[in-house]
Amino acid sequence: MELREKRVVVIGGSSGVGLALASAAAREGAKVLIAGRCVEKLAGARERLGGKVATYPLDVTQETEIERFFSRVGTLDHLVTSLGGALEGPISVLSEDRVQGLFEKRFWGQHRSARHAAPRIVSGGSITFISGDAAARPAPGRSAEAAADGAIAALCGTLALELAPVRVNTLCLGSTPAAGSFRVNEEAAEAALFFLCNSLATGIVLPLADGARSV
Ligand SMILES: NC(=O)c1ccc[n+]([C@@H]2O[C@H](COP(=O)([O-])OP(=O)(O)OC[C@H]3O[C@@H](n4cnc5c(N)ncnc54)[C@H](OP(=O)(O)O)[C@@H]3O)[C@@H](O)[C@H]2O)c1
Repeated sequence: MELREKRVVVIGGSSGVGLALASAAAREGAKVLIAGRCVEKLAGARERLGGKVATYPLDVTQETEIERFFSRVGTLDHLVTSLGGALEGPISVLSEDRVQGLFEKRFWGQHRSARHAAPRIVSGGSITFISGDAAARPAPGRSAEAAADGAIAALCGTLALELAPVRVNTLCLGSTPAAGSFRVNEEAAEAALFFLCNSLATGIVLPLADGARSV
């Protein structure tokens, strides 16, 4: 399945993996729309991509904004959500407010986006969640991230059945020393592109860390 003329929405597309994916999809000829909170960041991303993407300011913690956003977007082929935000520390110091803050973005932000986008995604289109590997790779101090990442992985499997023929996949990126580097973001984007383009790919929760160093 090719991306030429397909409508691709990347929420969290102004930096990191989302920006790399937006760039890759635009190169493949897709009509890409990136969203994020900061207008300057969106403008900078658009400039970096040679003006080849549209931008939209959006805060995923605000349900009404998401609702308005998708009603303006209308029909789309692919949704990618890639929302940054980390929270580490022993459970005794992670207050409920802080954990809820992480969930607001990394779980509810992706859940809300999928819920409002799903009825507008064409048959054979897709939803891709970009997440972390804290649930699959437990480590002290990562309980909040593990819970959020685990919730996304669980959501993915169920939605893949419920929303078919719309496909739903998740990329779980490793917290390795190279995380966030240009190379890792580019390679993560390449993996995410496979989810968009491969008509057989659904219900996949794919761990992707930094090669031998994380095995
Ligand atoms: N990059 C890696 O190597 C790596 C490694 C391990 C895990 N991950 C996981 O992959 C995901 C993406 O990470 P990343 O490194 O690409 O993140 P990032 O560079 O921090 O990018 C995050 C994007 O999300 C947007 N965003 C943040 N809060 C938002 C909100 N409330 N509403 C709308 N947009 C919002 C940001 O724009 P604004 O700030 O302007 O809103 C930005 O466009 C995360 O779940 C992360 O844990 C990534």
